Amino acid sequence: MIEIVRGDITALNVDAIVNAAKERMLGGGGVDGAIHEAAGSQLYEACLAVPEVRPGVRCPTGQSRITPGFHLPARYVIHTVGPVWRGGRHGEAELLASCYQSALMLARQHHLRSVAFPAISCGVYGYPVDEAAAIAVRATSANLADFDRIVLVAFDEAVNEALCRLARSNRSDRSDRSDRSERSSRSRRANVPNGNEQNGPNDSNGSNVPNERHSNVPNVPNDPNASND
Ligand code: APR
Repeated sequence: MIEIVRGDITALNVDAIVNAAKERMLGGGGVDGAIHEAAGSQLYEACLAVPEVRPGVRCPTGQSRITPGFHLPARYVIHTVGPVWRGGRHGEAELLASCYQSALMLARQHHLRSVAFPAISCGVYGYPVDEAAAIAVRATSANLADFDRIVLVAFDEAVNEALCRLARSNRSDRSDRSDRSERSSRSRRANVPNGNEQNGPNDSNGSNVPNERHSNVPNVPNDPNASND
């Protein structure tokens, strides 16, 4: 299951939190500013030490880089650079998916078991929230087997609503599928195969962020726009 957490990513006690950074990786506003502020100035120094791949670019769009978390509860910060939304015909969806994939690849390489993501590109970079949420769920679901926790953090209500809508529609898809499979398996034999237990949208998972809400997103939603699945 993917967890949806309503709250501030800087307060999460996970192995790594992901930062929606700029290509130069030296801080900014939004979640980037909040992470740098909570981590302290050592994070800026660590980012400065990341080699540039070309002048002014430490992390190209769609890629990720890792630093320690310093004063954050999270041990690491994985910095990724989301695409700026330019109408959807400039590779934005592939680049956004690549942010999630490259961040999780780095987490795997560092043997991390829990990772939390903000809604990459959904703030200043202007990505439509529903489309970004679908990409986030799909890209993270594909990697669930390698982690104990993958958390999608909704800081604002629009992101929270988009993620919860997806969770609800995936849940009802699954329950439709499981109804169909139950009917057909009942016709074959008496026992219904076990499905995954799912918590309701307001169930608490015991995380350590005050005033947050949780819900769980069932695995991989269908993406009608996916070209290479
Ligand atoms: N915790 C979790 N999510 C947060 C937090 C926080 N403390 N603060 C903001 N957010 C959310 C926003 O509400 C938004 O949904 O993170 C999402 C991404 O918003 P931005 O931070 O604006 O990131 P993005 O759209 O990817 O733009 C990146 O913004 O500030 C700059 O340096 C950053 O240039 C980069 C650009």
